[in-house]
Amino acid sequence: MKEKLIVALDVSTRKEALQLAEKLWDSVGAFKIGMQLYNSEGPDIIKDIQELGGKVFVDLKFHDIPNTVSQTSRVITRRKAFMFSIHASGGMEMMKKSACAVREVSQELGIMKPLIIAITVLTSINQEVFENEVGIEKPIEEQVVNWARLAQEAGLDGVVASPKEIKAIRNACGPDFVIVTPGIRPLWATSNDQKRVMTPKQAVKEGATYLVVGRPITAHPNPGEAARKIVEEMEEALYA
Ligand code: C5P
Repeated sequence: MKEKLIVALDVSTRKEALQLAEKLWDSVGAFKIGMQLYNSEGPDIIKDIQELGGKVFVDLKFHDIPNTVSQTSRVITRRKAFMFSIHASGGMEMMKKSACAVREVSQELGIMKPLIIAITVLTSINQEVFENEVGIEKPIEEQVVNWARLAQEAGLDGVVASPKEIKAIRNACGPDFVIVTPGIRPLWATSNDQKRVMTPKQAVKEGATYLVVGRPITAHPNPGEAARKIVEEMEEALYA
């Protein structure tokens, strides 16, 4: 079950990131490097975490023309990421070209193909903002499922989505489609700025493939203990 747990390294320095990774690498499945850490420390931070024994989810949410995103996908594949993210709203051609590029480079190098995960609708966007500012007059869940289907058709491996959307995506995309969910909060942790949260046990029961957890682990006085407690709670889903 620990393989399903991804820790968000939302810190600004290499020192803080490596301190956390050293404490956690054998209790979790992977580390998520987002734009804060990446832009502060540069791409070498990926290698630094890998050298400590951690798999890396490069969460830079690419969104650009098909050529730019597919060429960038080649670069990320060469860096041996375990997973990386691109926006589904970039469209079919952008996703297809990226999926092809990643397969080509992985074969050339004889390495494991990174999982390419599509961002659907950010969980910070509510229905009102979605309609009035993004300009899409549809229930968010319907659009999330549309983009998940498009990503699957383009050859991507899965999506990032709110835990509340897991069931609808599973129904639409089947049992093997990867669903990565942030917004996870054990009952003993504060929800911080996350609005629609779910416990680790519930998220596994709903069918999440990977859980992304940040502050309940990284801000805990004993991050290793927090991670182990979360894995235990995830395991409870198997017996409940
Ligand atoms: O600290 P916390 O557990 O809230 O961290 C969640 C992580 O997941 C953060 O890195 C955040 O950027 C990311 N995320 C999210 N909601 C999304 C997509 C990503 O919380 N919809």
